Amino acid sequence: MKIRAAVLERFGEPLVVQEVELADPGPNEVLVRLLACGVCHTDMYTSSGVDPSGYAPTVLGHEGAGVVERCGEGVSLVGEGDHVVTLFSPQCGECVHCRSPLTNLCLAIREQQNQGYLPDGTTRLAKDGEPLRHFMGTSTFAEYTVMPEIALARVDREAPLDRACLFACGLSTGLGAAIKTAQVREGSTCVVFGAGLVGLGAVAGARLQGAERIMCVDLARERLELARGQGATDLLEGGPHIVEQILEMTGGFGADYTFEATGSVGVMRQAVEAARMGWGLCTVCGVAARGETLDVVPRLLITGRRVCGSSFGGLKGRDDVPALVDRYMAGDIDVDPFISHRLSLDDVNRAFELMEAQDGIRSVLEL
Ligand code: CU
Ligand code: ZN
Repeated sequence: MKIRAAVLERFGEPLVVQEVELADPGPNEVLVRLLACGVCHTDMYTSSGVDPSGYAPTVLGHEGAGVVERCGEGVSLVGEGDHVVTLFSPQCGECVHCRSPLTNLCLAIREQQNQGYLPDGTTRLAKDGEPLRHFMGTSTFAEYTVMPEIALARVDREAPLDRACLFACGLSTGLGAAIKTAQVREGSTCVVFGAGLVGLGAVAGARLQGAERIMCVDLARERLELARGQGATDLLEGGPHIVEQILEMTGGFGADYTFEATGSVGVMRQAVEAARMGWGLCTVCGVAARGETLDVVPRLLITGRRVCGSSFGGLKGRDDVPALVDRYMAGDIDVDPFISHRLSLDDVNRAFELMEAQDGIRSVLEL
């Protein structure tokens, strides 16, 4: 079928919204009619060409939500008409990682997905007979996509899809970091570095876990105000002084939990240093540029601080994303303030411009 999609043709150039070919879903694949898609930094990072693992041409986008239109042979996990959130981090349920409660890093389709192919090593997308690759296994800057069934989370049909799409990446990453990776304890003190969607999600997650004090650090006043709306109790301006300030505010000890959601290795270091002696846990959610390293004084670790990383909030997508959407529907998570702009697919480059200008938290494409 012919669909409209935003294609990254060449790195560093605007995406080209155009008609492309989408082939039928193969075995264990699903055709999804997309209704909404968030625009995330990873899309822009890949489009810029700075990411050495990026590839082109490809249809970008990975924060999608839509409706199952048609199922390929053997599909049993979703059915026609189901509402789904796309998962760049799938859950096959069978690999050694899926069977362990300790990680969400499913091994089933990793290699093919990283190279822009569906699990059988081919693509369903083409332009003038030339194959286009699938970005992050999702390619959701489009009217339709074909994805493996293990990469779709079936969510409550009542949930508005223009909100649900935010659970496909940034929001779930932050919520999961606090709820699942760090497992924040009731009554604890947390510090979240960075008030983008991931950091704001971590603030909300810390609140849901019953944290008593939630400090949020950012450079922008408006973003800090959004953090207050999600449950932050102290709003702090970032800078070289911040570790000292946090230590002062916590009786000289530091916080029980710190979260880094900026991707800057300098901030990651601050997040480690702001964690409490004895048991402070620093959770790194931000993605640093390739080749960068984290500089930590080892004595901080031997005196009880721990550092861990969290990819997609440690969430097993098909199990945990629907549960988070349910919490949203129950009124536990306030999603609306995250949506700063609503744009059409044709305005996708405008969404990148807004992101570059740090205007708002998320632009959502209405497809
Ligand atoms: Cu993302
Ligand atoms: Zn797996």
